[in-house]
Amino acid sequence: MSTTNPAATRPNQKTVWVRETRFGRWFLSTHTWYRYVLSQAIVDFKALLGERLPAQARILDAGCGQGLAFGLLAQHFQPAAITGIDIDAEQVKKAVNAASQLAIPCTAQHTNASAPTLAAESFDIILCHQLLHHTSQQQETLQEFYRLLRPGGILLVGESCRSFINSVPVRLLFRHPQMAQKDAQGYIDLVRSNGFVFGEQDVQTSRPWWSRRCLGMAQKIGIGLHNTEPTEILIVASKPH
Ligand SMILES: C[S@@+](CC[C@H](N)C(=O)[O-])C[C@H]1O[C@@H](n2cnc3c(N)ncnc32)[C@H](O)[C@@H]1O
Repeated sequence: MSTTNPAATRPNQKTVWVRETRFGRWFLSTHTWYRYVLSQAIVDFKALLGERLPAQARILDAGCGQGLAFGLLAQHFQPAAITGIDIDAEQVKKAVNAASQLAIPCTAQHTNASAPTLAAESFDIILCHQLLHHTSQQQETLQEFYRLLRPGGILLVGESCRSFINSVPVRLLFRHPQMAQKDAQGYIDLVRSNGFVFGEQDVQTSRPWWSRRCLGMAQKIGIGLHNTEPTEILIVASKPH
């Protein structure tokens, strides 16, 4: 386990990161997040991957936060090793602790996902779960993922779409760079335009209850039934051989 200083947080550099609110950081440690958002995404990614899941993969968890995905990745993906990176030093301290609980090699580093600090082609899978809507450097981050994956390596992108991020409760309780928000098609285009390949069958969109108006209660009483715009998207993309 190690911690390093991400170059992008040096004061003389352009601000690329907006820190999550205290509420947001707390929410990421709740059972609700773990069960209904993160665990569900890992299970869905595994189903989308099917036979393509590489054995003994070296996994990068980009924007690993507190390292909550480490145990899930170990359980569902049986990797050889996991490396977590996050730009928030406070989160990385917790991730280092989570990494120490695992039986397989697992490390957590204080690193900006868009800054080259890790060796090229050193990962078989990159998990990027709910990171992109937090950074204004989405192109640079995707380019860095392309560099870090071996040819044929797999990128798992899970994102919340603009319609959810811009909803009133989310705007009140959380903090995101507004100019970075995209709809589902925007994330598809972003990943494709950075050289990754995937088909329609590799994309899953949804409107889970927690992302709907009044946590889905409004629809239960007939309000907003017409709104079917996806709030969440999962993409399983590959770096070509
Ligand atoms: C919504 S949290 C998701 C955490 C974790 N992936 C999960 O699903 O539980 C987003 C995380 O991305 C991190 N993050 C945002 N911008 C980043 C960047 N440029 N490089 C690395 N981490 C970043 C934040 O610090 C935060 O921990």
